[in-house]
Amino acid sequence: MSATVATEALSACRGVAVRYGSGAARVSALEGVDLTVGAGEALALRGPSGSGKTTLLHLLGGLLVPSEGEVIWKGRSLALLDVAARGEARAAGIAYVFQGSNLLPNLTALENVAFTAWLAGRAGLTPRLEPAELLALVGLDGKGEALPGELSGGEAQRVALARSLAQMPELLLCDEPTGHLDSDTATRVLDLLWALRERFGFALVVATHDPGVAARCERQVELADGRVTGAAG
Ligand SMILES: Nc1ncnc2c1ncn2[C@@H]1O[C@H](COP(=O)(O)OP(=O)(O)OP(=O)(O)O)[C@@H](O)[C@H]1O
Ligand SMILES: [Mg+2]
Repeated sequence: MSATVATEALSACRGVAVRYGSGAARVSALEGVDLTVGAGEALALRGPSGSGKTTLLHLLGGLLVPSEGEVIWKGRSLALLDVAARGEARAAGIAYVFQGSNLLPNLTALENVAFTAWLAGRAGLTPRLEPAELLALVGLDGKGEALPGELSGGEAQRVALARSLAQMPELLLCDEPTGHLDSDTATRVLDLLWALRERFGFALVVATHDPGVAARCERQVELADGRVTGAAG
């Protein structure tokens, strides 16, 4: 790892392992993974199903504590923070777009965005854009009152993007953002995601099986059986 990357590192994993269960039933989801995410960079996590991509995203987002090793966010070990402080660190800089968008089903599109903006406000952030402006930014100004069940997959994914932006993230973690979309819709969602990156400058870590997504990223990291097999650092 070069000194330049180290000083600009937003997020890093050092020797992390994630193990579930015990004895014969023990599953090792990740073993000995080192990864650094620099400010503003786009990094693709690739690898077969079960290789540990989602687990690694959960670690970077502070949603999961490693069995071994440490996860660092802006120079601080997440493990040394208590749960509330970890939540605050997340709310104040890390946003997560889950596979399948994961919107709150009983809130409208606008309320989904507004709820996250409210949480961000509680963490001391002043959003640069109002929830309605964020929906307009992703091309959904006419859909604010729609419930998630009334949206198409691509629209729901765009609401999820608008919602993540309400946190003004420095790091956006995306799990298979195009996994449920046809190729035209996937291209539109990706164009939008890259345009938003250009505008807001957040770093992006994206878990994907889609070579088109990976090709847009500046860096690719390959995982197999919970280990990095190509191009990490
Ligand atoms: N809560 C859990 N309990 C036990 N094993 C788990 C748990 N979560 C994940 N695993 C295991 O950890 C490994 C890595 O899972 P992970 O979800 O990170 O893979 P992935 O690369 O995201 O796969 P996919 O491409 O299918 O989404 C798999 O073997 C999985 O079965
Ligand atoms: Mg996954």
